[in-house]
Amino acid sequence: MTPEQLIELAKEAMTHAYVPYSGYKVGAALLCADGSVYLGCNIENAAYGPTNCAERTAFFKAVYDGHRSFTAIAVVGGKDGVITGAFPPCGVCRQVMREFVHDEFMIYMGGADGYTAMTMAELLPAGFKASEHMAL
Ligand code: THU
Repeated sequence: MTPEQLIELAKEAMTHAYVPYSGYKVGAALLCADGSVYLGCNIENAAYGPTNCAERTAFFKAVYDGHRSFTAIAVVGGKDGVITGAFPPCGVCRQVMREFVHDEFMIYMGGADGYTAMTMAELLPAGFKASEHMAL
């Protein structure tokens, strides 16, 4: 699976977005270590706060199905589904990713022209990790 293929799947996921309030459609495609891919979209809510981002939808679907090992995620988004700049995952989604991935997990942020690639360690430096910060 190439980054470009993962971005194409994220674009497909974006068409599932439920965004009656912002009109901002986001799609994510999460590549698991076994090669399976989980798609997610943002799902908004009239109370705003309960809104779930596309990245977390993808992660929660995969984790529910038993996946615990991940390789990469592609994310795209834009007002009315029109992709302009590279899409940076929000802070909450970065922390949710951090729970399950290694430092070299790749995040591909799709833009109008290609994508920007960053590792988990770059996207969330000095992040809070159970394995390092909690006596489990
Ligand atoms: N959103 C995502 O789906 N992922 C992010 O990482 C940031 C924001 C969604 C939430 C909301 O539905 C819309 O984008 C505008 O904030």
